[in-house]
Amino acid sequence: MNRFSDTLLLWYDEHKRDLPWRHTRDPYLIWISEIILQQTRVAQGYDYYQRFVNRFPDVFSLAEADEDEVLKYWQGLGYYSRARNLHAAACNMAEAGGFPDTYEGVLALKGVGGYTAAAICSFAYDMPYAVVDGNVYRVLSRWLGIDLPIDSTSGKKAFAEAADALLDKSRPALYNQAVMEFGALQCTPQSPDCQACPLASGCAALQQGRVHELPVKAHKTKVTHRYFNYIYVRIGEDTLLRKRSGEDVWKNLYEPLLIETNEDVADNELPLVEALDALFDKTSLYDSQSNALQKGKRYFLMLKRRGLKHVLSHRVIHTNFYEMTMPEEGPIPDGYFKVSAKDLQKYAVSNLVSQFFSLFLSPDNLNE
Ligand code: ADE
Repeated sequence: MNRFSDTLLLWYDEHKRDLPWRHTRDPYLIWISEIILQQTRVAQGYDYYQRFVNRFPDVFSLAEADEDEVLKYWQGLGYYSRARNLHAAACNMAEAGGFPDTYEGVLALKGVGGYTAAAICSFAYDMPYAVVDGNVYRVLSRWLGIDLPIDSTSGKKAFAEAADALLDKSRPALYNQAVMEFGALQCTPQSPDCQACPLASGCAALQQGRVHELPVKAHKTKVTHRYFNYIYVRIGEDTLLRKRSGEDVWKNLYEPLLIETNEDVADNELPLVEALDALFDKTSLYDSQSNALQKGKRYFLMLKRRGLKHVLSHRVIHTNFYEMTMPEEGPIPDGYFKVSAKDLQKYAVSNLVSQFFSLFLSPDNLNE
């Protein structure tokens, strides 16, 4: 008799949501669902999951796809390294012959950490690995009254041991789903309804009046601020686009002409003009009507929206959107290419860039 588990499973039976990944033992489908749900709420992830597994129903179809297409299916979900890692892992698995069937093999997949490996191995193979995610930290810290920080080494160790001790080893898949669902629906961060909680009588935090203090986190995420100026460059019917590269936010997604500055430049655009001088060969910018070199006013930058704040988990991207027109035969900055406006929707872009395009394009261009 395991009081915690028995109570939890009774609660789960009554309250669980009917979710597609709970009707399968296919490790591939479970893997996709868990990666989506790592940083995404069920309500948002649900449709993405359905579309993704319809298009890529197994390891081999995902491995054969182009990364650009995988990112397009991920567009809007954020944390795009998840999609890049999924694709890379699928390529490795396809080469190795399929999905691994050991805990070590699953843990070795790109983008899979302890939580996801435990989820896949318990849900697909019923292996006795306890999941510990944000929901579980909350449930365990409150039930047991553990106030060690969840982001400290000692805290992580204590929670892993507690999770192992509580795991119902006769039914790990069911138990793991139940404890996560309990954290998501009943033992919620801000306003848990402890009056209606079936575990209330044994809950250490409730007894000690510490429900809202737990779990404890030692470190605040440090937020960095960046300043992006996106420019819609009109070159006839075309505009400029590039693929982002390097180890930075939105790697391998596409974006329009970007000038990053150290601060907001909407009130003094000189840094933008200097950056444009460096990007374009200014001597070839001429007024196509008079055929004369434009002096002084080389770029007519139109500010279309200023001060848009795009808040990500540990950074705030402050953005201004501009527009400018360039002659058709003008130079193109390194790394950029010309795209017809009507083809822009084929490229995977961040939510921010998607908002940018909707400002400049007619709805006809944006509908696929
Ligand atoms: N969050 C993470 N994994 C989940 C799952 N399998 N069901 C519901 N929410 C989840």
